[in-house]
Amino acid sequence: MFNLKVINEIKCSFPANSRNEGLARSLVSAFSAQLDPTAGEIGEIKTAVSEAVTNCIVHGYRGCANGNIELVGRILEDNVLYIKIRDKGCGIADVKQAMEPLYTSAPEEERAGLGFAVMESFMDRVSVKSSLNKGTSVIMTRKIPPASERQE
Ligand SMILES: Nc1ncnc2c1ncn2[C@@H]1O[C@H](COP(=O)(O)OP(=O)(O)O)[C@@H](O)[C@H]1O
Ligand SMILES: [Mg+2]
Repeated sequence: MFNLKVINEIKCSFPANSRNEGLARSLVSAFSAQLDPTAGEIGEIKTAVSEAVTNCIVHGYRGCANGNIELVGRILEDNVLYIKIRDKGCGIADVKQAMEPLYTSAPEEERAGLGFAVMESFMDRVSVKSSLNKGTSVIMTRKIPPASERQE
C-alpha cells in the first residue's frame, strides 16, 4: 500500500487547538474531493481525521498548549487516499494496548476509548508509530473506488 506512486500531496501544520479540528476535517474533505468520494465516504474519512486530531490535542499535548499538528494528505495511485496526522507530544508507551477498543488513559474525562476503533472501522489501514516524549504519527489509507466501480 505505501509503495504506491504519489499523485498529489498537501502538507500543513497548525496549532493543536480544538478550534482547528474543523479546519483539519474541511482540508481533508476538500483534498479528497479529487477522488470523487460519496457523501458517506467523506463523512467517514472526516470522522477518522477528527479522532486522530482530537487525540493529538487531548493526549499528545496534554498540559502543554504550544504544540503543532502536522497533516499530510496524499492521493496515491489506484484511487487511494493517504492521511498522516502527527504530533510531537508525549507519545504512547504501549501502542497495542492504546489501540484496543475501550482502552483509554483518561476514563475520568469520560473518554470512550473508541477513537482508534473508529479510525480502523472507517479506513482500510491504520498504522500508528509512537516514541515516548517524541510524539505520535497516525497514517491512514482508504481506497475510494471510482464511480464506475461503486457497489451500490
Ligand atoms: N496522539 C496521541 N498522543 C498520546 N497518546 C495518545 C495519542 N492518541 C491516542 N493516545 C492514547 O491512546 C488511548 C486510546 O485512544 P482512543 O482510542 O482515541 O481513546 P480515547 O481518546 O477515548 O482515550 C488514549 O487514551 C491515549 O492514552
Ligand atoms: Mg480519542
